[in-house]
Amino acid sequence: MANNIKYFIGNWKMFGIPGSYKILHKINSFFNKDKKNNKNYKIIIAPPLTLLQNFSQKLKTGKIYISAQNCYHRDAYGSHTGQVSAFMLKKLGIKYIIIGHSETRASGETNDIIKEKVRIALKNNLKIIFCIGENMKQKRKKQTMKILKSQISKVVKNKFSFKNIIIAYEPIWSIGTGITPSENELEKIIHNLKKFIKQKYRLNFSVRILYGGSVDKYSVSGFKYINELDGFLIGGASKSSKNFIDIIKNFYK
Ligand code: PGA
Repeated sequence: MANNIKYFIGNWKMFGIPGSYKILHKINSFFNKDKKNNKNYKIIIAPPLTLLQNFSQKLKTGKIYISAQNCYHRDAYGSHTGQVSAFMLKKLGIKYIIIGHSETRASGETNDIIKEKVRIALKNNLKIIFCIGENMKQKRKKQTMKILKSQISKVVKNKFSFKNIIIAYEPIWSIGTGITPSENELEKIIHNLKKFIKQKYRLNFSVRILYGGSVDKYSVSGFKYINELDGFLIGGASKSSKNFIDIIKNFYK
């Protein structure tokens, strides 16, 4: 159930100013030179809202895709001060969007709100990077699969949606901590999740599942042997072109 193309997605969170484009420029140059492997992977960077237009215009002829980090759960326009809709992002030329990151869930985003975001983002033809993950307490109680299944079932209502949804499994205890699941543990979770989704939604293809949480050039060396893993959502290490490129280099070493 492995897909051919691997994803390396950088989530910049609240980082970056216009001058930070130099990071993308270096990553783009690396991609163009990496003739041996670059047909096998896709790079997506999610800068903050303030940089979306600037970066996507600069990258028009490049191979890196730009993603938004979030959107509001109502469509088009409305009286929602400080918010941006999926429609507005789409009109900017954005193709991808992260939805349901544990950091946005932590500020009060419920499964119902995430469901609305996913529905509206799909309606606007955005491709979704849908984050799920358990916290340490749930992991200790061995509730990981139960939590992940419920996060998926409560949000994704339609089997067709999976054509445009990439799942990012991000255990909360692993984000920014330097602690990662063991390769065995991760392999099992990815396998079980794929099996669950395929059966529940009666899919005739394998949904893409990425891993996120303290991914760096070291941890990627172990994870690359997990056949069913379709790539990585990378936070801290995506803010430096060197660290991000080293992850890709080590993956293909
Ligand atoms: P991290 O973040 O790589 O810094 O752990 C990952 C994420 O939050 O997407």
